[in-house]
Amino acid sequence: MEKILVLDFGGQYNQLIARRVREHHVYAEIKPYNKITIDEIKETGYKGIIFTGGPNSVYDDKSPHYDAEILNIGIPILGICYGAQLMAFMADGMVASAENSSEYGKTTVKVEGSLLFKGIPEESVCWMSHTDFIKIPPMGFKIIAKTSKCPVAAMCDETRNLYGVQFHPEVTHTIYGKQMLYNFLFEICSCHGDWKMENFVENSIEKYRTELAGKKVLLALSGGVDSSVAAVLLHKAIGQNLTCVFVDHGLLRKDEGDFVEKTFREKFGMNLIRVNAEERFLRKLSSITEPEQKRKIIGEEFIRVFEDEAKKIGKVDVLVQGTIYPDVIESGKGDSAVIKSHHNVGGLPDVISFDEIVEPLRDLFKDEVRETGTRLGIPHELVWRQPFPGPGLAVRVIGEITKDKLDILREADAIFREEIANAKLEKETNQYFALLTDLRSVGVKGDARTYGYTVALRAVTTDDFMTAEWTRLPYEVLEKASSRITNEVSGISRVVYDITSKPPATVEWE
Ligand code: XMP
Repeated sequence: MEKILVLDFGGQYNQLIARRVREHHVYAEIKPYNKITIDEIKETGYKGIIFTGGPNSVYDDKSPHYDAEILNIGIPILGICYGAQLMAFMADGMVASAENSSEYGKTTVKVEGSLLFKGIPEESVCWMSHTDFIKIPPMGFKIIAKTSKCPVAAMCDETRNLYGVQFHPEVTHTIYGKQMLYNFLFEICSCHGDWKMENFVENSIEKYRTELAGKKVLLALSGGVDSSVAAVLLHKAIGQNLTCVFVDHGLLRKDEGDFVEKTFREKFGMNLIRVNAEERFLRKLSSITEPEQKRKIIGEEFIRVFEDEAKKIGKVDVLVQGTIYPDVIESGKGDSAVIKSHHNVGGLPDVISFDEIVEPLRDLFKDEVRETGTRLGIPHELVWRQPFPGPGLAVRVIGEITKDKLDILREADAIFREEIANAKLEKETNQYFALLTDLRSVGVKGDARTYGYTVALRAVTTDDFMTAEWTRLPYEVLEKASSRITNEVSGISRVVYDITSKPPATVEWE
């Protein structure tokens, strides 16, 4: 399979670059610049390399650099922003700082004849975001684009197939960015575009059918998109040799546990064990109010429940994990502050005896996982399921958790989601849910005083959940949801809408 290497120098659009390449049906993988040697690059046989942007200046000693020999190994390279400056620096060109004239945002660029700009008009709009710039290109390079402020908006050495662009072709604001990446891949790197999702599905099924033949395979199914797709993919490959364990901690949304069970057991005929552990979890959580403590307890209890099940199953050969590509990249990065200890199945390998871990989705982005799921016939509501935290409604019942509160929340949340669906707004907001605050307030129903809980509704718009805007839902939808919740769910006397973005707030309240 032909591959492009995205050599990561710490820029903010690195995942986007890889996705854009894959949209052209060429497989791209991201490697941090300090995690791959020049010999490994040569051995892998990449068709091309893209140097990403980065937050630094090439003259800063601490900024990421790479062995300049990479320019001479015969693999075409496209440097983007910092990557272009680095290329110029490595080949002895001149990079300067434009302290007072940095370019940021949409900028008109003029391009000249070059394979990189084949089929692109002489003048168009590109996305710039830089302070440093290439002042003089290295020997052997020619200037192939300019802006009013940037004398070398793009350069190339055609004999070595080295290209550098100061702007960001991967960002949609660069009108012809897609065409430029196409030109780099197909005109310059001579790719064929053989990375197709249908091949991925067929090849994976075939591969695991052979590799896992006769083996006992175990998967922790959460009902989330990733573990569901991994489960169905492996089920197609090895059928009943796959056992899925679904731990129902009693903190799921309305009817969710039954839906998961029905889908996998009845629709797909899988070997599914549903563990109803509600009581066990609620006992552990009783009188706990501190969010981190809740998360820790749930994470640990999840492992204990799984351990008990694993004992019954006995020795397994293979443990499957639903890791996806962004998880792989994230885990390769340095430590950042722990805001919330996210719960996933990462702790499982310690408690189960097995020989091997298989991660069938580790090369895929989320949208590719969804496409795979659709191709495998997984129901739309599961494939397009909005993110749901591992600790479930425990972090949406603020303060102490009780079964009553969970039931109240489940009803309110179901109504809110139904109203979003009725208004056909599911695609307009990326995550939306209700939560139950521990604040009670006075209300009036008929002639009687009420003293019920306050429900908060939350809806956010985001690309990556690292930052998020509160969604401007129409008042009518909020009104309908509020009126139905206070009328249909007993125990609630007030509904509020959360209008805080992230940062400073997080998406979940706990
Ligand atoms: P926060 O609250 O950190 O949420 O802004 C960002 C996204 O992550 C989800 N989330 C979790 N997902 N395990 C998960 O798998 C967790 O423990 C967890 N906590 C938050 C949250 O729903 C949002 O989509």
